[in-house]
Amino acid sequence: MTRLIIDCDTGTDDAVAIMAAVTHPDLDLLAVTTVNGNVPLSNTTENSLRVLDHLGSTVPVYAGSPRPMVRADFPVPRDVLNGDKPQFQIPYLDLPPSVTPVREQGAVAFLIDYYMDDANTDTVLVATGPLTNVALALAAEPRLAQRIPQLVLMGGARGWGNVTAVAEFNIWVDPEAAESVLSAGIRDVVMVPLDATHSAQVSLEDCDAFDAIGTPAATASASIIRHRIVNYPDAADAVRLTAPVHDAICVAFLTNPEVLEEFDSYPVRVETAGTHTVGETVIDMRPWSEEPRNARVALRANAQVFVKFLSDAFSS
Ligand code: RIB
Ligand code: CA
Repeated sequence: MTRLIIDCDTGTDDAVAIMAAVTHPDLDLLAVTTVNGNVPLSNTTENSLRVLDHLGSTVPVYAGSPRPMVRADFPVPRDVLNGDKPQFQIPYLDLPPSVTPVREQGAVAFLIDYYMDDANTDTVLVATGPLTNVALALAAEPRLAQRIPQLVLMGGARGWGNVTAVAEFNIWVDPEAAESVLSAGIRDVVMVPLDATHSAQVSLEDCDAFDAIGTPAATASASIIRHRIVNYPDAADAVRLTAPVHDAICVAFLTNPEVLEEFDSYPVRVETAGTHTVGETVIDMRPWSEEPRNARVALRANAQVFVKFLSDAFSS
């Protein structure tokens, strides 16, 4: 059993990641911490609670930062960001309102207390949203960098971004947080960028197969992924039959590491000042670079392995 915590901005693909982590027989989800990102903190927290209640799970939820570490509200205000496509990352997931309350303790304090306990230094931290909570925890207790055994994060891009030409959303929301997390010295950072998630998309046919499984996680994930396929931002004349489910690939890696391909160690920095490039992950691929290779980066992922992971999780 691999023990994990998911720090997330639930969000449709975060929801699938949570459901896979709860149901997969080889995973033990200890807690969910929420952060501002796809939707405001109150929404990411409610959505996470709805998902866990939907599964009848008692995994606790701790709410974290309602805003980026430095910038008041993204590099642009949220209404500017979501103005033209509120239907994609919907404010509330189409699940019954939560009945389980969020925990009193804040996410940052929880992460510090959890990892300062010697009994918990085996627990992988999976970050599928902006890295604000993780950065604040590391800033408040720098010893966490040596106590978190592995950080698996969905974020970044070597090719094109999804918010700007070069910036991926999770990094773009809080670039200062991302830069401080990547330079904190965590011993094993696995970065799953858009290059990987876009190469392992889930299809409408896969969703039909999930529906045939019939479990609460399977049918809810099928519905959520179909929503993503139908609403995925794309060229006007594009006809989509698939969509990336970015965050769940990070969870798949914990049981099926072969899901990540073109996977190697590189120096990775985050642009926090560029007029056109803020939020870019600068991945140094020069073979002679002497910069610290602070992350293992996957530039491709395997769709067959990924979908089988989801089927295995939802079937159990
Ligand atoms: O860029 C994709 C990432 O941003 C995903 O984690 C999605 O949920 C959003 O958080
Ligand atoms: Ca996310």
